[in-house]
Amino acid sequence: MSATPTPERKKVTTTSLRAKKERGEIVTMLTAYDYATALAIDRASIDVILVGDSLGMVVLGYDTTLPVTMDDMLHHCRAVARGAKTALLVGDMPFMSYQVSTAEAVRNAGRFLQESGMDTVKLEGGREMAATIEAIVTAGIPVMGHIGLTPQSVHKFGGFKTQGRTARAAKRLIEDAQILQDAGCYSIVLESIPDRVAEVISERIAIPTIGIGAGPGCDGQVLVTHDLLGLFDRFTPKFVKKYANLHGEMARAFAEYKAEVLGHSFPAPEHTVTMDDAEWKELLNSLSPVADGVSQAE
Ligand code: KIV
Repeated sequence: MSATPTPERKKVTTTSLRAKKERGEIVTMLTAYDYATALAIDRASIDVILVGDSLGMVVLGYDTTLPVTMDDMLHHCRAVARGAKTALLVGDMPFMSYQVSTAEAVRNAGRFLQESGMDTVKLEGGREMAATIEAIVTAGIPVMGHIGLTPQSVHKFGGFKTQGRTARAAKRLIEDAQILQDAGCYSIVLESIPDRVAEVISERIAIPTIGIGAGPGCDGQVLVTHDLLGLFDRFTPKFVKKYANLHGEMARAFAEYKAEVLGHSFPAPEHTVTMDDAEWKELLNSLSPVADGVSQAE
């Protein structure tokens, strides 16, 4: 009996994401910043890979996402694009790459597609970003919105704080989501907002909402992969579930490696390259003798 071939997975697109929402299927999204992680996420059939500017905090060690540059983002996006073949790839526009002028925003958004293999871009902000989003979408570049706790506004918020807790703030978020949809966004990230508010937004707009700290009523979920894997141990937001403790596992592996090297049990014969005896003898015969008490390096 011949084996049934595994069906080729189709590339996820902005329209296939929308179709998922229409069919009531949940969208999955994770962040990646390098080739190996992108490959593993893609093989797990996660729908969307976001090269988030969370890069600044979980990979580059900054306290906020603000220092991340276009060059940082494009470098990591290229690595992710080499690893992922089917997930929809989203490049996160870093702080000050889209706020100064619409022309600069369109040019920088274009660089994600032209120079780093991304399929779409994401940017933070509500109604104040509508004209910018429209211009980027008009240039043929799909845009994912991001409202709620938008980390690039950390200083405006006075910290990484949940948004939309009052009726007034929640209403503004609901309006913002509608405005972003009208501006042409194909999807919106809802970060750290009350679950009931996220559910209302998800019911009222036709494009998929992707929640992080926004409860189960969103059309999809996203986590920062370093949080999910337990790789980032500086702090863990309440909404993160750790599915592994890779930081602990790394510490264990590094300590074991050190002990084995110091104890001469690594490298063992199976990790060692040997040389044919005849070649070895020929080499020894060809070498001039080492002078007594003087090393060859001297
Ligand atoms: O930068 C990022 O990783 C993000 C996610 C938290 C959505 O924006």
